[in-house]
Amino acid sequence: MGWIVGLRPTRARLGGSVDPREIRQVGVVGCGLMGSGIVEVLARAGADVTYVESSDELVARGHASIERSVGTAVERGKLEPAAAEVLLGRIRGLTDLAGLDGSDLVIEAASEDVEAKLAIFRTLGEVTGADVVLASNTSSIPIVELAIASGRPERVVGMHFFNPPPVMALVELTPAITTSDETLALVRRYGTDVLGKTCVQAKDHAGFIVNRLLVPYLFDAVRLFDEGFASAADIDTAIHLGLAHPMGPLALMDLIGLDTMLSVGEVLFAEFREQRYAPPPLLRRMVAAGRLGRKSGGGFFDA
Ligand SMILES: NC(=O)c1ccc[n+]([C@@H]2O[C@H](COP(=O)([O-])OP(=O)(O)OC[C@H]3O[C@@H](n4cnc5c(N)ncnc54)[C@H](O)[C@@H]3O)[C@@H](O)[C@H]2O)c1
Repeated sequence: MGWIVGLRPTRARLGGSVDPREIRQVGVVGCGLMGSGIVEVLARAGADVTYVESSDELVARGHASIERSVGTAVERGKLEPAAAEVLLGRIRGLTDLAGLDGSDLVIEAASEDVEAKLAIFRTLGEVTGADVVLASNTSSIPIVELAIASGRPERVVGMHFFNPPPVMALVELTPAITTSDETLALVRRYGTDVLGKTCVQAKDHAGFIVNRLLVPYLFDAVRLFDEGFASAADIDTAIHLGLAHPMGPLALMDLIGLDTMLSVGEVLFAEFREQRYAPPPLLRRMVAAGRLGRKSGGGFFDA
């Protein structure tokens, strides 16, 4: 991705030629499901991490879930107790974005709400150093909108982790049309060399690679089931054994949450206006009935 004329920054402290290991202080905005996992990944890689949540209560909740996850890693013998203590000592939580002023990199993983994210990027653009790269873990909000809001459009990029971040090896990098080559190179090297992830790159279009391919497949499974073509159990068994997937499509939707699937489908359909992304009627009915999957006690299968 090239420069957009007129947006070239005057200096590039964290440009492509800089060693990504110079990124020591990393800020994370939002410490929910994804943010807490991203904080853990960063701290495991040796960074000093400051995360920001909306209230003291949520800061504490975030810290508790990081501690739980790190504790599980210790129980499973994947982390020494002493290393876990050091790791936890690298993490602190705050409620004010201004506390991210010393960051070398910020990764935003706040709730998927466009107005909230625009406000966060506006503030990050004010409180962090002018050349600091700001990344977003958003699944569906155009990176370019966040980039413009930040006032440093060449230094904003999508960094889409998978759930749970400490376990999942993939990060989708999604440069906006304003993102500089240097910014992209830096996050790629940071993601691979420092965090140990495998990075793939896709355009800043809804769904990136994984969801663009996954959602039509999952929705087709719902359509097959709805037309009485096969039972839910047989559809899932066919894929599980016939394609060696760890689970079938309907069980996977139960795991993700049918409400989440509905909103992802709506975003993809709004972006591309293609029928394959349109949420199937049965999915809408199940969400209306409160059958959301595992989190509600059942979806296509009983929980
Ligand atoms: N859940 C997934 O599987 C998944 C996977 C990849 C990407 N994502 C993306 O990651 C982001 C976070 O998703 P999640 O599943 O972790 O959601 P979540 O609801 O578990 O966590 C979001 C957190 O952000 C906090 N927050 C909201 N506004 C804030 C603000 N102004 N400042 C600080 N914190 C704020 C909330 O209090 C909450 O704890 C979203 O953009 C989502 O699209 C989610």
